[in-house]
Amino acid sequence: MQFFRKLIYFTLCQCLLGSAIILTSPRRIFFFALSYRVKVRGSAILYQPVLFAGKGVVSLGNSVKFGVQQSAYFYSTYTYVEARGETAKIIFKDNVWCNNNFVAVANQTSITISENCFIGLNVEIFDSNFHDLSPERRGYTDPNPQPVFIGKNVFIGNNVKILKGVTIGDNSVIGNASVVTKSIPENVVAAGNPCRVIRTL
Ligand SMILES: CC(C)(COP(=O)(O)OP(=O)(O)OC[C@H]1O[C@@H](n2cnc3c(N)ncnc32)[C@H](O)[C@@H]1OP(=O)(O)O)[C@@H](O)C(=O)NCCC(=O)NCCS
Repeated sequence: MQFFRKLIYFTLCQCLLGSAIILTSPRRIFFFALSYRVKVRGSAILYQPVLFAGKGVVSLGNSVKFGVQQSAYFYSTYTYVEARGETAKIIFKDNVWCNNNFVAVANQTSITISENCFIGLNVEIFDSNFHDLSPERRGYTDPNPQPVFIGKNVFIGNNVKILKGVTIGDNSVIGNASVVTKSIPENVVAAGNPCRVIRTL
């Protein structure tokens, strides 16, 4: 019975999005059904409900996972991945695993998360300030969005916020609750607000 239920979800998702997404609960399929407008390429394992949104493209490598059942906020939150504009791209390379309540919004450029990254709870990544900083133009969108690039094998702690234009080098670790405003080199531990290198690995 369980097998047939999964098969129906799986087929429905393929019809809706052309994507091989594995879904196993009505809540997950509900959120996935809300994602019908965005172009999702590739496949992922959705332990938590994921809302894909926007007019751009979301690209999923092999074995990309969203959500962790044995972790906080599993039942109360969902993952939000928005490639907002037509030029926006969010790319998850192979074996990326994002814990619960993950948010990534690319307004017009790109967010790339490279192979084998672990991302903690409540992490947010943005490619834009979303509002113009000048008081007269605050209602307009940020005219200078900048891509975010996270290298391979990066470990991002819980509650980290990564702002536009940031690159994080391969293998680095970002400490809990850091606000990453500038790029971080490879093979370091970095933490704080603003996030700074605290030691090398
Ligand atoms: C950064 C981290 C990995 C520790 O690295 P570490 O190399 O062992 O660092 P230490 O604990 O020796 O701390 C080194 C310095 O950095 C500071 N520091 C450590 N973590 C920090 C953080 N998250 N924010 C700000 N400063 C931090 C320490 O206070 C210490 O400062 P001091 O030298 O002035 O005393 C750890 O603190 C952390 O944030 N882990 C992430 C946990 C997490 O969220 N896991 C996700 C589960 S899915």
